[in-house]
Amino acid sequence: VLVVLGPALLLAQDKPLAGAKQDPGPAPGKAYAGSESCALCHEDISKSYAKNRHHAAEVSGKWKGQSCEACHGAGAKHAESADAKDIVNPAKMQAFDQNKACNTCHFNQQTLVGRIQSGHARSLVSCTACHPVHAQPAERQTRSQAINETCKTCHVTQWAEFQRPHRHPLNERAMSCADCHNPHGGPKPKMMRTVNANEPNCFRCHGDKRGPFAFEHAPVRLENCNICHEPHGSANPRMLTRHEERFLCLECHANVGNRSLQTNTIGGVPPALHDLRSPRFRSCSTCHIKVHGSQASRSLMR
Ligand code: HEC
Ligand code: HEC
Ligand code: HEC
Ligand code: HEC
Ligand code: HEC
Ligand code: HEC
Ligand code: HEC
Ligand code: HEC
Ligand code: HEC
Ligand code: HEC
Repeated sequence: VLVVLGPALLLAQDKPLAGAKQDPGPAPGKAYAGSESCALCHEDISKSYAKNRHHAAEVSGKWKGQSCEACHGAGAKHAESADAKDIVNPAKMQAFDQNKACNTCHFNQQTLVGRIQSGHARSLVSCTACHPVHAQPAERQTRSQAINETCKTCHVTQWAEFQRPHRHPLNERAMSCADCHNPHGGPKPKMMRTVNANEPNCFRCHGDKRGPFAFEHAPVRLENCNICHEPHGSANPRMLTRHEERFLCLECHANVGNRSLQTNTIGGVPPALHDLRSPRFRSCSTCHIKVHGSQASRSLMR
């Protein structure tokens, strides 16, 4: 979906939002000025607002004709005085209070489930850090690009990981941070998304790794994918956590008292079969090709 966007996140309308359902609307007894009056003095903002999806609240619903005041509070007094003291400016509020104002209309939306647990909520990253209401439309971007541009302003380190030689194609705009993380938080650590009741979201795109396999490789089932892969990007082929694959395998498959392996299959002194000094044992997966699980071979050979 292509949208006209600013430097920040303004999302295309993929699906209508239930927005504003539980919002009580304008409070009785308060003096509202109406959006046309605001536009007299705030022309630029009113123009860019007309391109924002919130403008939907201006043309219909409880705030019709006065939706500026849904976020800024009743503004008749300010429209007279033109004094900053007489109007609410969310930019001057604590993140928590600012979010509360947004949530009057957005609370029950799916995207916000779990927000309480998120690192963003704990660190007081406000809704408007990612969703500015008055950003000027600037250039054309895809949804993925818009999301990545937003996240990378704060997560410089993670963005750098996506510049490594082996990586998920974020730079190529084929995916976004939000394919794996839910920026609004969730029950999983690191705001990880899931599919099908609690499976890692990796399976949404790499379904062939899900199985069920007749012969599972225990860590694929029992640990995270990221015990072997660097999920963002890596200097190592296949985004592995080790440069040479065998060192990764030998982390668990050497009998130096490793408790995660009950059978100590290979042995500290390699048996003739696995002569670790020989170059052919540098890449274990040339023989054990079904590292993620096999339908036919207990030793994951085919
Ligand atoms: C008569 C002109 C005028 C009208 C009408 C007007 N404003 Fe303002 N508004 C101003 C001026 C001037 C300022 C800057 C005040 C300052 O910086 O001290 C301002 C500032 C603001 C601010 C920022 C306040 C802050 O704390 O920095 C907001 C928000 C705002 N206006 C919203 C509105 C809304 C919403 C309406 C319509 C209900 C509106 N204005 C109508 C002139 C107006
Ligand atoms: C959905 C909520 C929302 C609506 C609707 C909304 N605003 Fe705002 N407005 C904000 C937030 C949040 C900020 C502070 C952060 C920002 O600039 O994004 C803000 C900031 C402002 C400011 C101060 C900007 C500055 O640069 O100092 C003005 C003036 C303003 N809004 C006017 C308006 C007018 C006029 C309308 C209607 C045409 C309107 N707003 C509609 C949420 C809203
Ligand atoms: C008066 C009710 C109301 C309030 C208050 C409100 N919104 Fe909205 N919001 C809406 C409506 C209506 C839409 C458009 C729904 C649609 O297009 O189906 C919307 C759309 C959105 C979208 C999707 C469009 C986009 O720009 O990416 C986001 C994100 C959003 N709002 C965030 C916020 C934030 C952040 C705040 C607080 C600053 C806020 N909303 C306050 C009613 C509200
Ligand atoms: C860290 C950045 C970030 C913060 C903070 C954040 N959001 Fe979002 N929001 C996003 C992203 C990214 C998406 C798009 C998710 C996707 O495409 O899966 C989104 C989607 C949405 C949508 C749905 C828009 C649509 O078109 O589907 C709404 C509504 C929304 N956010 C409201 C809020 C509100 C309200 C808050 C504060 C309580 C908030 N967001 C805080 C990044 C953020
Ligand atoms: C305004 C700055 C800002 C933006 C924009 C932002 N983040 Fe964050 N993010 C933070 C902060 C601050 C933390 C908490 C850091 C910490 O706990 O060490 C954080 C933490 C995280 C974490 C770790 C959460 C945890 O529970 O430990 C993830 C994952 C994350 N952000 C993803 C995203 C994604 C995806 C986006 C874009 C949709 C995004 N962030 C946009 C500031 C931001
Ligand atoms: C392919 C899926 C995927 C994508 C895409 C992705 N992440 Fe992550 N991210 C992960 C996984 C997996 C973790 C590690 C979770 C854990 O430790 O349990 C993680 C961890 C994080 C953390 C926690 C600190 C750290 O580095 O371990 C932050 C912050 C973060 N990601 C931000 C981002 C940002 C920003 C983007 C987009 C530029 C992004 N992620 C894209 C999968 C992804
Ligand atoms: C939204 C889809 C999507 C999700 C979710 C996703 N991936 Fe990927 N993954 C891709 C794409 C696209 C590629 C690149 C394929 C290519 O270049 O041929 C890729 C490539 C990979 C590669 C191979 C990299 C290489 O250098 O050959 C690994 C390993 C990988 N992903 C692991 C993961 C893990 C682990 C997760 C979960 C944390 C995950 N992926 C989540 C789409 C996804
Ligand atoms: C025990 C370590 C290990 C675990 C755990 C693991 N992988 Fe891998 N993965 C590898 C190795 C080694 C390779 C490179 C060998 C190959 O290409 O088959 C690889 C290659 C890949 C590739 C690229 C080649 C291909 O087969 O498509 C993808 C994608 C991938 N893994 C995804 C995942 C996902 C998703 C998970 C979690 C469900 C996961 N991996 C868990 C070791 C692991
Ligand atoms: C995080 C630890 C871990 C890593 C890393 C790991 N494995 Fe395993 N592997 C295990 C465990 C645990 C088992 C199950 C052992 C058992 O049931 O006796 C296993 C089983 C196997 C088996 C089947 C052995 C049997 O007797 O059933 C093979 C073959 C194997 N791994 C090869 C590899 C290869 C090749 C790599 C590197 C790509 C690798 N493993 C990386 C933990 C690991
Ligand atoms: C040249 C091919 C080849 C390479 C390379 C290779 N293996 Fe093997 N591996 C075998 C064969 C053959 C077996 C025995 C299979 C059987 O008995 O069904 C085996 C068995 C195993 C077993 C299971 C032993 C058992 O008792 O069931 C493990 C674990 C294992 N290899 C790990 C590794 C690791 C780790 C590496 C990389 C350092 C590696 N292999 C490299 C061929 C290879």
